[in-house]
Amino acid sequence: MKSKQQLSSVEKLIENNKKWASDVVKEDPEYFSRLAEVQKPEFLWIGCSDSRVPADRVTGTQPGEIFVHRNIANMVIHTDMNLLAVLEYAVDHLKVKHIIVCGHYGCGGVKAAMTRHNYDLINKWIRNIKDVYRTHRDTIDYQTKPEDRLNKLIELNVQEQVLNLAKTSIVQRSWKANQSPSIHGWVYSLQDGIIKDLCTMTHKDYLDPLYEFDDL
Ligand code: CO
Repeated sequence: MKSKQQLSSVEKLIENNKKWASDVVKEDPEYFSRLAEVQKPEFLWIGCSDSRVPADRVTGTQPGEIFVHRNIANMVIHTDMNLLAVLEYAVDHLKVKHIIVCGHYGCGGVKAAMTRHNYDLINKWIRNIKDVYRTHRDTIDYQTKPEDRLNKLIELNVQEQVLNLAKTSIVQRSWKANQSPSIHGWVYSLQDGIIKDLCTMTHKDYLDPLYEFDDL
């Protein structure tokens, strides 16, 4: 059973939704009929589940423009069926031109990975972030302030996830056939709402041959 307060906060969402839908139609009567017909987004967004980083709001885009996948700390893990299904659908069927991995400063998932605290099941997820730390330990530990170390790991983690996308047969097959999508690594600042563009990877960029499939 839900308490009265919980129920009313959820009911508020339904009320907001009714108001939003009628406002949208007032402004643009064809809005829903147009959107319901077809989905042709140009971007796949892989972001953190953090409630403060909504993909469409921070990029000023509308429904229909971004295909979205979010998880704790914007990870690309090769055993994650959810991510792989989203990636394959976005690349093979929607034919997105850009994939954006967007992390954010102050990310709680990355922060957790820097501690020795036991989070039970979540340990298995954030262990992947610990591996990024281990790979770049010198660069991260070179920072003297704990906050700078965290932010450096957040940036390096985004770059590592860009690389993880490039390691998939899904992306490599599309690179070979279509020379797209390009993959972008971004970090969003909760402080001022500004996105920092960290890196871009395209079919032209070097990928360690260890990860290259030559029989796609
Ligand atoms: Co986060």
